[in-house]
Amino acid sequence: MKILVTGGAGFIGSWVADAFIGEGHEVIIIDDLSSGIKENIPKEADFVKCDIRERELLEKVFSDYRPDIVDHHAAQIDVRRSVENPVFDAQVNIIGTLNLLELSIRYRIKRFIFASTGGAIYGEPEDLPADEKTPPMPISPYGTSKYAVEKYLGYYKAVYGFDYIALRYANVYGPRQNPHGEAGVVAIFCNKVLSRKPCLIFGDGNQTRDYVFVGDVAKANIMSINTPVGRYNIGTGIETSVNDLVAVLRKVSGKEFKVEYAPPRLGEVQRISLDMSLANRVFGWSPNVSLEDGIGQTWKWFSER
Ligand SMILES: NC(=O)c1ccc[n+]([C@@H]2O[C@H](COP(=O)([O-])OP(=O)(O)OC[C@H]3O[C@@H](n4cnc5c(N)ncnc54)[C@H](O)[C@@H]3O)[C@@H](O)[C@H]2O)c1
Repeated sequence: MKILVTGGAGFIGSWVADAFIGEGHEVIIIDDLSSGIKENIPKEADFVKCDIRERELLEKVFSDYRPDIVDHHAAQIDVRRSVENPVFDAQVNIIGTLNLLELSIRYRIKRFIFASTGGAIYGEPEDLPADEKTPPMPISPYGTSKYAVEKYLGYYKAVYGFDYIALRYANVYGPRQNPHGEAGVVAIFCNKVLSRKPCLIFGDGNQTRDYVFVGDVAKANIMSINTPVGRYNIGTGIETSVNDLVAVLRKVSGKEFKVEYAPPRLGEVQRISLDMSLANRVFGWSPNVSLEDGIGQTWKWFSER
């Protein structure tokens, strides 16, 4: 099949593109290279530099390539930036996505796979791990824009019978994650340790996240091609505090490094983990890579660069 991967020069999108190519699919990547890099783009893929807000150029990509599936990973991904500039966040994450959705309807795309968030969509749920029945209560513009897109997907399904799947990722980590952004604590910490700088923790470090390895996330995208329409959590169900993450990094790297603490950041949740049993029941997905193994692979990748 012909698959258009948006954001395919980025961290998760490039793993997803690699995985589709490995399965024998033809991949076209669009990316504006705002945080993604050309080195991440698989050589077998066609690449068009394109901002998803540029409707005309986007339309040319659809009419030139006529993809069967759109796998949408391009986004403004930074929670803190979304708090500072909700308008920009909405322009990329809502308006940009609507451009893609409108074209997907017009060009009769068979399936739209959307990289949503489980880490930021539920807010601070009382019961953890949160399953898909937990009411979304995002506390950041980023989580709100992802939720808005899920609502639009519901609208396109109701009115046009549009076929979609929203994958609500937990905190994804692994090789190729950008260590210079605000998101992606594993990559940021690996980079700090390698450059002998202290790791900065916002808050007391007891805030928890559900860390899922990027290879497992790429596998979820592959399995999504034939999965019933819906929203699925993609996580491990395991809560790990940032302090515990530091301990794992110390263990796998064999390095002693300094940690500094700063005030917590607005819009970030205190505790989250995702129940992934629906994805397991419906399409047999489960994470295979343990945190220690995944951080080991990530550390190795960063230290060999
Ligand atoms: N990393 C995580 O933990 C996580 C968790 C939940 C959801 N997600 C979602 O997964 C997707 C990929 O995230 P990532 O961590 O790989 O981030 P990333 O920054 O590495 O990838 C995003 C890509 O989108 C591109 N992009 C940004 N704005 C664009 C625009 N206007 N037009 C075209 N391309 C644009 C960037 O250049 C980059 O290559 C995003 O949609 C993100 O919201 C990520």
